[in-house]
Amino acid sequence: MDQYAVVGNPISHSKSPLIHAFFAKQCAQELAYSKLESPLNEFSEFVKGFFFGNGPYSQLSTRGLGKGLNVTVPFKEEAWSLCSHLSKDAKLAGAVNTLYLNARNEICGENTDGIGLVRDLKNQALSLEAKKILIIGAGGAVRGVLAPILKELPKKVVVTNRTLSKADVLVSIFSDLGNVTSTGLSQLNESFDIVINGTSASLGGELPNLPSTIFAPSTVVYDMMYAKQLTVFNAWAKAQGASAVYDGLGMLVEQAAEAFYIWRGVRPKTEEVIQLLREA
Ligand code: ATR
Repeated sequence: MDQYAVVGNPISHSKSPLIHAFFAKQCAQELAYSKLESPLNEFSEFVKGFFFGNGPYSQLSTRGLGKGLNVTVPFKEEAWSLCSHLSKDAKLAGAVNTLYLNARNEICGENTDGIGLVRDLKNQALSLEAKKILIIGAGGAVRGVLAPILKELPKKVVVTNRTLSKADVLVSIFSDLGNVTSTGLSQLNESFDIVINGTSASLGGELPNLPSTIFAPSTVVYDMMYAKQLTVFNAWAKAQGASAVYDGLGMLVEQAAEAFYIWRGVRPKTEEVIQLLREA
């Protein structure tokens, strides 16, 4: 049976095995999908052990059957640097979450996070075309989603970050793809159609120090984090009058669906599994 896994550190919390088992059943695909914890300083050997059955991690898969890996925190950047082939978007993203082998047995990488985000927004009947979009944060998570967002032809994208210089760097990387500018958190003085929180602030229950003027009554908010309850950011946005708030659970499932498609050539339906996770 073809073997797949998600690799991270830590990894016990990962919902990917559940999601991919669901997809495999739905699409009648015979495959095994597990979660693997790589030691922090041996990721490269770990991945090679999985795909090629050699080195200290040769037992991770049955030789020749290790077909694909999802990569999560903290290895997405390292995964990017060990790929022999990257798509144009993955190259710009500087990080990948999906690995597979090509016909020459070379490791290829893709970043499906941005496609996942855009699809989930579309699931909510939200088009990005001609919209004014604010993205908060300038770390790996935001860098990973900027190219797919800009491809949707928004009117403009403003990247704002606590450390402005990091937002400036992202603008210089992505400015060829569309109208993208940067500004400091406290310099924001207009409202947006869509506000996306891509910071890790919610993890510590914190909020970026933002003016409430970013919200108009029609503003839709998307927090790339997800939680059982409303995220801290979404609770704040609602209190400031945002019209609708979404968290990143749908993005998680949609990025997995895109990885499944890359590996198996079949696109699973996502609605049911999003619902299932929401209720779990
Ligand atoms: P990730 O891979 O999740 O993007 P990261 O690369 O460490 O993680 O980036 C974290 C992002 O969240 C950064 O944009 C960070 O802002 P700084 O660049 O100024 O550090 C942002 N962030 C984290 N905690 C924050 C907080 N309390 N307030 C505002 N921004 C925060």
